[in-house]
Amino acid sequence: MKTEIIDIDEVSEEKSFSVCRDVILRGGLVAFPTETVYGLGADALNEEAAAKIYSAKGRPSDNPLIVHIGKREQVTKLVTKIPSVAEKLMDAFWPGPLTIIFEKSEIVPKTTTGGLNTIAIRMPSYPYTNRLLSYLGIPIAAPSANLSGRPSTTRATHVIEDLNGRVDLILEGEDSEIGLESTIIDVTGDIPVLLRPGAITISMLEKVIGKVSVDPAITKEAILSHDAADFHPKAPGMKYRHYAPKAPLTVYYGEEKAVLLKLLSLEDDRIGILTTKEHAPLFKKGVVRSLGSHDDFQETAHRLFDALRSFDEESVTAIYSEDFSGPELGEAIMNRLLKASGGMYKEVKGENI
Ligand code: TXA
Ligand code: MG
Repeated sequence: MKTEIIDIDEVSEEKSFSVCRDVILRGGLVAFPTETVYGLGADALNEEAAAKIYSAKGRPSDNPLIVHIGKREQVTKLVTKIPSVAEKLMDAFWPGPLTIIFEKSEIVPKTTTGGLNTIAIRMPSYPYTNRLLSYLGIPIAAPSANLSGRPSTTRATHVIEDLNGRVDLILEGEDSEIGLESTIIDVTGDIPVLLRPGAITISMLEKVIGKVSVDPAITKEAILSHDAADFHPKAPGMKYRHYAPKAPLTVYYGEEKAVLLKLLSLEDDRIGILTTKEHAPLFKKGVVRSLGSHDDFQETAHRLFDALRSFDEESVTAIYSEDFSGPELGEAIMNRLLKASGGMYKEVKGENI
């Protein structure tokens, strides 16, 4: 398939919108920028179009897609009811990086929802895409625009790398500002449940709607558990090894200096190192990527997937990372980093340096 690539700054909005509409109306696939990560979209109400997303990504068919809208009124037709907690969440966080799970209405095909009776809906805040979705007026099913299993795409160049030749249109915009996928919250039960951590943190959610519980399958313990069969995440996508670079990734934790000395002791030309801005200059060998300072979670989130992808380009044989644990956005960062490591999270004690 020939993929058309349009830089959204180089043509008029009228032009890129109408090319996009033509592709969507004929059941095609369009990759587009958002504030979280790039998305790969198709008409959410067209079963065949939604099915194409799964094959272009190599995505398991039980992993439901998030439906993107530009205007809040669009929710009504897609769901059976809008609980009052959902109203509060939409008031507080839309447009923005929060996906809300509702009971789906009949018009939504099960191909879009991975066979579930619920639907995930989000309204992106990236201004171009917000306007595009409003212009289309069609709900757009869109997972992250990466090949299944690879780190999500936060730059147009990543999308071209993974999807050129597999989709109809790629809209090139700016780098994704946040860099991690949206927070997902399920409001279909009595107590809202967090299904995926993201830039809208639990404390932000609880300020608006009170107590939020966390799906036990997404906790650090569950990700690190080698007996994955004990945990069944409610967001089906959270069960797969994800975000993973090709080389094995090990994350070290412990006293900061001990971790740094451990990483320095591993130095080799063919390994990748994920470290902080302050520590990066100390490494003389290997492929070294800085994720900003330890406490600059926004910068770390913004850079994480780009850094993981860059190790693939450099063909490193192994990757070693510092611990980036922290509160709030730190939780989402570690969720992705530990999933990418497949649970390789090792303590460094003074004596094993
Ligand atoms: O920030 C984002 O959310 C990005 C951009 C493109 O909007 N999209 C994204 O999609 O991250 P994806 O497919 O990579 O992740 C969707 C997640 C999966 O873990 C999936 O299982 C979950 O959402 N999901 C979708 N519908 C669901 C549902 N009805 N119930 C539970 N989980 C659902
Ligand atoms: Mg994804």
